[in-house]
Amino acid sequence: MAREFSTVGVVGLGTMGAGIVEVFARNGVDVVAVEISEPALERGRATLTRSTDRAVAKGKLAVADRDALHERVHFAVGLDALHSVDLVIEAVPEHLDLKQRIFAELDRVCRPETILATNTSSLSVTEISVATTRPNQVIGIHFFNPAPVMKLVEVVRTVVTAPEVVADVEALCTRLGKVDVTINDRAGFIANALLFGYLNHAVAMVESHYAAREDIDAAMKLGCGLPMGPLALMDLIGLDTAYEILDTMYRRGGRDRRHAPVPLLKQMVTAGLLGRKSGRGFYTYERPGSPVVVPDEATPLATDAALADGARAIAKVGVVGSGTMATGIVEVFAKAGYEVVSVARGQEKSATLREAVRTSLNKGVVRGRLAEADRDAALGRISWSATLDRLADVDLVVEAVVEELSVKKALFASLDEICKPGVVLATTTSSLPVIDVAMASHRPADVVGLHFFNPAPVMPLVEVVRTIRTSPEATATARAVCATLGKTGVVCGDRSGFIVNALLFPYLNDAVKMLEASYSTADDIDHAMKLGCGYPMGPFELLDVVGLDVALAIQRELYLELREPGFAPAPLLEHLVTAGYLGRKARRGFRDHSHR
Ligand SMILES: NC(=O)c1ccc[n+]([C@@H]2O[C@H](COP(=O)([O-])OP(=O)(O)OC[C@H]3O[C@@H](n4cnc5c(N)ncnc54)[C@H](O)[C@@H]3O)[C@@H](O)[C@H]2O)c1
Repeated sequence: MAREFSTVGVVGLGTMGAGIVEVFARNGVDVVAVEISEPALERGRATLTRSTDRAVAKGKLAVADRDALHERVHFAVGLDALHSVDLVIEAVPEHLDLKQRIFAELDRVCRPETILATNTSSLSVTEISVATTRPNQVIGIHFFNPAPVMKLVEVVRTVVTAPEVVADVEALCTRLGKVDVTINDRAGFIANALLFGYLNHAVAMVESHYAAREDIDAAMKLGCGLPMGPLALMDLIGLDTAYEILDTMYRRGGRDRRHAPVPLLKQMVTAGLLGRKSGRGFYTYERPGSPVVVPDEATPLATDAALADGARAIAKVGVVGSGTMATGIVEVFAKAGYEVVSVARGQEKSATLREAVRTSLNKGVVRGRLAEADRDAALGRISWSATLDRLADVDLVVEAVVEELSVKKALFASLDEICKPGVVLATTTSSLPVIDVAMASHRPADVVGLHFFNPAPVMPLVEVVRTIRTSPEATATARAVCATLGKTGVVCGDRSGFIVNALLFPYLNDAVKMLEASYSTADDIDHAMKLGCGYPMGPFELLDVVGLDVALAIQRELYLELREPGFAPAPLLEHLVTAGYLGRKARRGFRDHSHR
């Protein structure tokens, strides 16, 4: 029989504590919610009220249920109010000494059988537990932000946590409608260990002006389907909390430089830019605590005129190549009303390409997404050719030939001779330096990367890569063209992995390393990222879809370019690729897909 938890104490009613109070009270548990001072208590109460009022306004909570929920919460200043609760969850700032002091005090105030839990994200639960005389009744209960929404709870057992305490807490999580994963006490547990290197890397991109905050966030949302971008997430977490978590992970997690907090973060915390809670972080919010972003001096002007500022007029577009990407790109431009010259190597390839585009457009008609007349008009706008000479009068060339530098360079040298002056030359390379391709022409100022995602007609994101030689007009033109295609163009520098792959693949590689270290299982790691962070797929699901060989190749390039030790490909990934376990396409990757 699991232990009954009828009254629970929550210490600290900030970003996490207020949400944790709501989770318990919503599920019929009485809560004693404590803070350090009257003003802090009032802030906590206001956060709870705002959150439950929002739930009522959205029709997710009945008025009577909200009132009952509030009646279950008793607010108090100081830990003495916790003398008769069954469980305490501490959610004060991420400082070991503070938490140890609070646990020593809780040990004194609470009944001997009370379970003492910490919501720490990165500190050692073991070190916190030894501040009490009952380390076997101390456990980590790590909720995710926002606690009322995110399904995951990481239950952290130390080497001395009693098994029945673990079982009781697991049963409690189920009662709260949460999904728990139970793990040992290691810095960052599962989700934060995989998340924070990525978040810190995104901050470094802002700091180095590699890409703008909106572009980084849009790239991860539109390119990977994440519920929010990394910088918006930093603002939600709180920059002070994020700083402390990174700092602890750096010190506890083997001094991986990727966890050394980016200096910008410390500066922002010092300047009081803490994220949503202070009304300003990477973005500016309507008021402290509000999720509503308001424009500030860094907000780009979104008007069509601003987008087109300095952009050249584009009417006719050449697309070179006949593979998957070229097929999709021809379709995208033709559907958007551009006159398209498609150039393939030879008549045969050109005919096949034409069929592929026709088939894809027909699919749109069958699915009711495209009118027959629009399909015919799109096809009418495309001319099919097997020679580059036809590109003499186009305004933009998009190259999507094989991913080999020598081939692309030769092509750009030819384009240089054939195309009229002022044309923008774009490469869709996903891994080669754009500057290498640009220098093969005599007009590097006109060369950009236009990195479409597969399938091009569906994916809403395009990375616009500017090299150190690209002119502002060429970048503006590329971005304006993306907008006319109905896509979001994000501008970034010319580095391996651009934005999306540079942020995504090291995280996937870290997940493999975590599995390799036997810290958790592929299922639990996938669960943690989906239910704790709202990712559409877990890392192992995604790796099997992307292909382990592809992931390994990208990771190798990132490693070779940056020489960051933490980017070294996971040996397990290399072994699986050597063994031919490449993912779904090989019917076996991290999971067995042979029966599907
Ligand atoms: N922010 C997140 O996304 C997130 C997610 C999961 C876990 N956590 C963890 O939760 C904990 C709290 O983080 P947060 O982001 O909610 O911090 P926060 O700064 O938003 O809130 C901390 C609260 O603790 C209160 N407090 C400070 N000293 C106290 C004391 N002696 N007694 C009672 N209350 C006291 C503060 O007044 C404040 O309201 C940290 O350990 C953090 O790592 C945070």
